[in-house]
Amino acid sequence: MYGKKILVTVIEEELKGVLSFEEIAARIEIPKLDTHGDLSFPCFSLAKVYQSPPQKIAHELAEKLAHPLFTQIESAGGYVNIKLKRVQASKEILEKVIGAGLDYGSQQKDGHINIDFSSPNIAKPFAMGHLRSTVIGNSIGLLAEKLGYQVTRINHIGDWGTQFGKLLYAYSKWGDEQAVKQNPIKELFRLYVQFHDEAAKYPQLEEEGRAWFKILETGDPKALKLWQWFRDESLKDFMTIYNRIQVGFDSYHGEAFYNDKMARVVNLLQEKDLLEESEGAMVVRLEEYELPPCLIQKSDGTSLYATRDLAAAIYRKETYDFDTSLYVVGREQTIHFEQIKAVLAKMGYDWAEEIVHVPFGMILKDGKKMSTRKGKVILLQEVLDEIELLVTEQMEAKNPALQDKKAIIQQIGAGAVIFHDLKNHRLHDVEFSLKQMTSFEGETGPYLQYSHVRACSILDKVKENPALLVQGLEDGDSWRVIKQLDAFPSVVEKAYHEKAPSIMADYLLKLAKAFNRLYGKVKVIDHKEYLPVVIGVQTVLKEGLRLLGVKAPAKM
Ligand code: ARG
Repeated sequence: MYGKKILVTVIEEELKGVLSFEEIAARIEIPKLDTHGDLSFPCFSLAKVYQSPPQKIAHELAEKLAHPLFTQIESAGGYVNIKLKRVQASKEILEKVIGAGLDYGSQQKDGHINIDFSSPNIAKPFAMGHLRSTVIGNSIGLLAEKLGYQVTRINHIGDWGTQFGKLLYAYSKWGDEQAVKQNPIKELFRLYVQFHDEAAKYPQLEEEGRAWFKILETGDPKALKLWQWFRDESLKDFMTIYNRIQVGFDSYHGEAFYNDKMARVVNLLQEKDLLEESEGAMVVRLEEYELPPCLIQKSDGTSLYATRDLAAAIYRKETYDFDTSLYVVGREQTIHFEQIKAVLAKMGYDWAEEIVHVPFGMILKDGKKMSTRKGKVILLQEVLDEIELLVTEQMEAKNPALQDKKAIIQQIGAGAVIFHDLKNHRLHDVEFSLKQMTSFEGETGPYLQYSHVRACSILDKVKENPALLVQGLEDGDSWRVIKQLDAFPSVVEKAYHEKAPSIMADYLLKLAKAFNRLYGKVKVIDHKEYLPVVIGVQTVLKEGLRLLGVKAPAKM
């Protein structure tokens, strides 16, 4: 934040030790209204120390503060508001942004972050629900890298568990090889739904499913071969989606990968005397954490989701030596991750606290949760197809001669879907609305992509090097944009710190709005002094969108 350090220093001098530099820095705000100033210091927490009302403290402090960088220092309702000398500030900010280019806001922090995200379940379609984990996790990874952290992206594919027993049973009973070959995911999902329909009528089917899982887990070659086939087909399908939205992973070790690593967990738990029998099953009691017991082994000896997660956590610590291990998984699994952390802590692993669940809300349809079991899902593939169709129509109407049309349409389609999700705070539930997603007006990905294109096309027409035209600017419209540019590095930091890409999304909307307002008022191309602002906007929009996992084409 431009001028913040200086402001904190002069306040610190005046307060003579009442608050430290860090304490003052943490209190500095940017006023909500531009007219109030550029920086502000609230005096409310000083009232007790000085035994005086905050309004009075602010008034007296404002009288005393002075620095050549500040043009106006005023008190208002308990705040000291400061206006910066725009000519100097704007020049320095623009020089900094343009000098750094796409590296603006980058840092060199140390540390290794694991991110477990996306993690869809095989033999089921990739539904909108898994999109949330995918885009939030992807963005958190990009933000972490921007700050300098080493990141390992892990896709903990759901490829093991009782549901595959059910699927094997369903396939053996109602399955058809040809049908699966022709349309694997659809057919496997049909079998899954059919199983649950039948099991609702004949509960004994659940038993059959469990028995088949036991057969699978004992390593029966025929069952394993079918499972492998289902897994391969599903992965092919998932890869198409990841390519469309341009997300990649360093590891696709799914739950099955931990099959030969679970015995060690059970042994360790036994050695430490943590396992207890409960109705034939093996559990770790977690009363002291006020958590339900963690189920480690079922009465028939088969393993569980939690067992595999324990094995995975230990494997990852040993393989990657992470400093933080993030799990971007729906809020429904909060207790599960608390249990995992608690069991690891009981096992004596002091790194248990490095495990962090990053929960998110649900995607709702008409205010209700979508049930996969009943076959009610919205498929990401279909949503992407539909959006691309709409984009294509618009493109044919507006810019039919565009080069690389296909790639750009894909980038806009993916941008629309990704941004629609990321502009919501991750903890909020999101109502699925194709209409909103595809409306390119207002707060959408394509709106931001379009603002970037606008900046690119202005700069395209310029012959001289705009970087050499940097000068101080005083008018309110460009100052508003420049202040946003100034905020970018702290937005990167905050978005990562809170694991909230929505902070970046909000910021980019503000920046684009400020830019479009400036663009509407002055003919930038005729006023060359504004061109550096345009480069700043182009740079930060492109980089900010990249951090959300959204591409910014130069033309559209
Ligand atoms: N496959 C799981 C699901 O769809 C998510 C897995 C998340 N990661 C983990 N390590 N448990 O619910």
